[in-house]
Amino acid sequence: MPAVLVIGAGTMGAGIAQVAATCGWDVVLQDAATGAVERGVAGIRAQLGRLVEKGKMTDEALAAALGRLRTAGTPEDAAGMIADSQSRRTEGRSETCPTSEACPALEACSPLVIEAVVERLEVKRDIFRRLETLLPGSAVLATNTSSLSVSAIAEGMRDPSRVIGMHFFNPAPLMPLVEVIAGQASATEAVTFGMETARAWGKTAVRAKDTPGFIVNRVARGYYLEALRLLGEEISTVEKIDRVMKELGAFRMGPFELMDLVGLDVNLAVSTSVWEQMNRHARFTPHEIQRNLVAEGRLGRKTGCGFYAYDGPSPTPAVPGRKGDLAMTADLRRAVHAFADAAGVEDRHDACRLIFTRVLCAILNEGALALEEGVASEADIDTAMKLGTNYPHGPLKWARRIGVSVVGDALRALNTAAGDDRYRPAKLFAAL
Ligand code: NAI
Repeated sequence: MPAVLVIGAGTMGAGIAQVAATCGWDVVLQDAATGAVERGVAGIRAQLGRLVEKGKMTDEALAAALGRLRTAGTPEDAAGMIADSQSRRTEGRSETCPTSEACPALEACSPLVIEAVVERLEVKRDIFRRLETLLPGSAVLATNTSSLSVSAIAEGMRDPSRVIGMHFFNPAPLMPLVEVIAGQASATEAVTFGMETARAWGKTAVRAKDTPGFIVNRVARGYYLEALRLLGEEISTVEKIDRVMKELGAFRMGPFELMDLVGLDVNLAVSTSVWEQMNRHARFTPHEIQRNLVAEGRLGRKTGCGFYAYDGPSPTPAVPGRKGDLAMTADLRRAVHAFADAAGVEDRHDACRLIFTRVLCAILNEGALALEEGVASEADIDTAMKLGTNYPHGPLKWARRIGVSVVGDALRALNTAAGDDRYRPAKLFAAL
């Protein structure tokens, strides 16, 4: 059976360990904090127990998954346990893994390490440098980082070609997407191994270049940041912006509801990281409303209050938003209506259509810019946004359906009105 060492037993590490163990892999889970692995395993046991209650898993499968899961206190112990799994496998004392038979890459590259520790470059670097000396040269070291550079994490290693990114989404057992990231030095076989492993674990794998936010965390910035700008410019309220995006755009959750769910601090940290790495481009500027809420400790659902308050039977808006002047020039108004018409929007209100156009244009343009910069293929960008964020359509397919010239006209009109180049259209939308 292939083996994986998961470093970090928090939200993501425990989720990834659960995925691997239920897919028949030997798993060693290690964490530096006292009690963390025990909490991680208890969480996995509880999650799997719920699946048994719902009839989605048998008692035997639960016992087998937990039986494949071991814990370690130090990287040294963990590396020893992984080596033990490997040798049992080589000696044929372990079951054969059907997925590894189907994929020679899984055999050639193991063991796999996935680190899901705190999002700090020096901590991740230290872990990989240390593990490199403890594991065989065939090991692949994958980072689950959301916003750091995979190449930067691999810097200073003896063999950076073994390092890749495997970016899972929260909650890992439920979210179907994994972004597999090739750093500057990543070996092709290590990247293939990451892709095959994700598939063997029942996930859809997309390939992304090692660029800020990869695909999902970059393209999704438009959803949050444009909504925040609309709020800050007093164009509308939290409630209305959420409602417009759900009703007119068919998004499952509004941008403010989503930020409350993810955690305003987590969301702000990703925005800030992408903004810094994108040379502080205006379209990624973190919003002061969000910064202030985080400073006040209003982090969303987890603290009982964020953009909404969660102390009543249903969430109530907790950030004052005024419906001010839309300040649309005739040109912008024409472009907004053309965009909304082409997107099949029936609602004819100026404010609703402006909100819809601004937020959706930000996403479509970011998807097209990511494509233009070679972050991923068109198909992978669309797949990633549908599976990683539950968007109703992939941004590129959506843009082509609306019409690239219509999207381009809306972006140019918005860019003229904003005056800070934040809607500068991608080449896909350039005027013919
Ligand atoms: P978490 O805070 O729930 O867990 C982190 C764990 O790492 C803790 O248990 C901590 O004790 C442990 N740790 C810290 N330093 C360590 C070390 N030197 N050695 C071993 N263990 C160590 O964090 P979470 O949310 O699970 O995030 C982990 C990583 O996954 C981060 O890089 C994050 O950016 C990334 N990520 C997080 C997502 C999320 O929604 N939470 C989604 C996708 C990626």
